Amino acid sequence: MEILIVKEGGFCFGVRRALDMARQAIEEKRLSATLGPLIHNPQVVEELQQQGVRVTEQVSDLQPGETLMIRTHGCSPEVPQQARERGVEIIDATCPFVARAQREAQRLCDDSWQVLVLGEPEHPEARSIREHTGGRATIVEGPQDLDGVDIKDKVAVVCQTTQRLDNLNALVSALLPRVRLLTVSNTICDATTQRQEASLGAAKEVDVMIVVGGYHSANTTRLAQICSEVNSRTHHIERVEELEREWVAGADKVGITAGASTPDSAIAGVHAALEQIAEEERS
Ligand code: F3S
Repeated sequence: MEILIVKEGGFCFGVRRALDMARQAIEEKRLSATLGPLIHNPQVVEELQQQGVRVTEQVSDLQPGETLMIRTHGCSPEVPQQARERGVEIIDATCPFVARAQREAQRLCDDSWQVLVLGEPEHPEARSIREHTGGRATIVEGPQDLDGVDIKDKVAVVCQTTQRLDNLNALVSALLPRVRLLTVSNTICDATTQRQEASLGAAKEVDVMIVVGGYHSANTTRLAQICSEVNSRTHHIERVEELEREWVAGADKVGITAGASTPDSAIAGVHAALEQIAEEERS
């Protein structure tokens, strides 16, 4: 059994940067909490908790003098303001690509565009982009949501960074006949596009595709969805213990890919488990 690892899978630039910032702050003994789980990966969150970093949902849970880290998804602009008032220090690990989407949405709203954020309404990143417009932007998941929106004649689209390009294309096609002016800010992150394209290519090539990453990770879930569209033997797992031997029974080639918040150790663990199965099948 041959094992193919998608090299574009695993930690992206933004997640690696946030974890480096967290580890440095822990070393300096000045990280008290993160606003929501730092990344959508339970093993990493557990590791941080063991080092005394708690997960909180609001600034008021912190004491003056403590330090709060903002995760890659960003947050409402009110959070730094509340932190200043409470004497809480902020370490901002918002991914620079998410910050760009926040700025774009804000600028377009200020220029009187009706801003649609293509994203998941409950996802913290989509919400943070909307919050940077003072709640003026509307989050839509795709063209299917347009009927519920009063579309004006001057519309701007900004994307949650982990969106699929084909979903953006579909939204733009649905909007074009309905608007006079349309501007599209393609804020989909390159790392996401590259990971999705490479994983799709691998999923077409292998007999079985294993997608590794947190069940709450939007980009991992989307990867699993993309792979399963071309390979019905796609399995999304969070931990190596979930891997089932019968999934790969009779497979000549197995692919492994991983979401942006999946540590290298989790990918290596799945690789080692598959190698073990392959070895046992050979003997
Ligand atoms: Fe940033 Fe792209 Fe990762 S937006 S957090 S580098 S997926």
